[in-house]
Amino acid sequence: MMLCGARRLTAAAGCAALGHFAWRQQQRAVCEPSTPALAGKVALVTGGTGSIGWAVATSLADAGCRVALVDLDESRCREMASKLPTRSIGVAFDVSREDTVNAGVARVVAEMGGVDVLVNVAGILSNNKALETSADEWRKVHAVNYDSSFYLSKACLPHMVERGWGRIINLSSWAWKSGGLTAGTAYSASKAALVGLTFSLARQFAGAGVTVNAVAPCYVFSPMIMEQLTAAKRAELLEAIPVHRFCAPEEVAHAVLFLASPLSGFITGEVVDMNGGFQMD
Ligand SMILES: NC(=O)c1ccc[n+]([C@@H]2O[C@H](COP(=O)([O-])OP(=O)(O)OC[C@H]3O[C@@H](n4cnc5c(N)ncnc54)[C@H](O)[C@@H]3O)[C@@H](O)[C@H]2O)c1
Repeated sequence: MMLCGARRLTAAAGCAALGHFAWRQQQRAVCEPSTPALAGKVALVTGGTGSIGWAVATSLADAGCRVALVDLDESRCREMASKLPTRSIGVAFDVSREDTVNAGVARVVAEMGGVDVLVNVAGILSNNKALETSADEWRKVHAVNYDSSFYLSKACLPHMVERGWGRIINLSSWAWKSGGLTAGTAYSASKAALVGLTFSLARQFAGAGVTVNAVAPCYVFSPMIMEQLTAAKRAELLEAIPVHRFCAPEEVAHAVLFLASPLSGFITGEVVDMNGGFQMD
């Protein structure tokens, strides 16, 4: 009787184990894709000839992506795209206007066949605080830093939904939640708005296989920030940032690469902080 019970128990455990095994196999297909899965995917990177954009484009191309390098100067875009190891293209258009974005994305789709990964890097800095910010400056900063991501997402999402897979990564900034230590009001507010857009798109398109995340670095060692900080301010910041150094553009690219890869498939609607321990929450 005991043996019979034990046998029954073993069979039940075996059955459960088999069920678990089959379940794991199914999960593996979703959760543990092989690393070359980015090979051949098309990545559109805006601000692609800037410091962070170029680091992102290089890292995605090294992972096998064909890159559409987007910025304002066509010959520079083309020249830099030709240096990438995959069949990539350079396309210039103004990301702050819907008509130019739609025409630009149409060019990319015609040449590359679609867009699988969209990285919204293009941005401009403004250090003016609220009372010094004109309505024109406010609008311009929002148009480049925030409206652009809406226009580009809207233009690229149908291609991702059609394929049942896509990645959107927005370059926010620590300024979104710090209020901007050195950065101004329009800049901080535009980067916070970008987080709202990230959450909204993440919720809407999660079921379609598209993840939408943001990266929020602070003080990346690029001309955008570094040329604007005096030597004294730099020294003060290096003391205050717990890791005692600034972020490298390549480190932002590492985070973007992870969010672009199939390995991050269960992460959506997330903001990855990159601030060297400046703010822990
Ligand atoms: N550098 C930092 O410390 C830091 C920190 C947090 C977030 N960021 C964000 O990272 C992004 C890249 O910053 P970066 O330091 O590489 O700056 P960058 O100035 O080197 O690059 C920005 C790029 O965007 C392009 N661009 C600007 N307006 C455009 C437009 N209307 N259409 C198309 N392209 C346009 C520029 O030509 C430039 O190549 C920005 O969104 C910035 O706000 C930077």
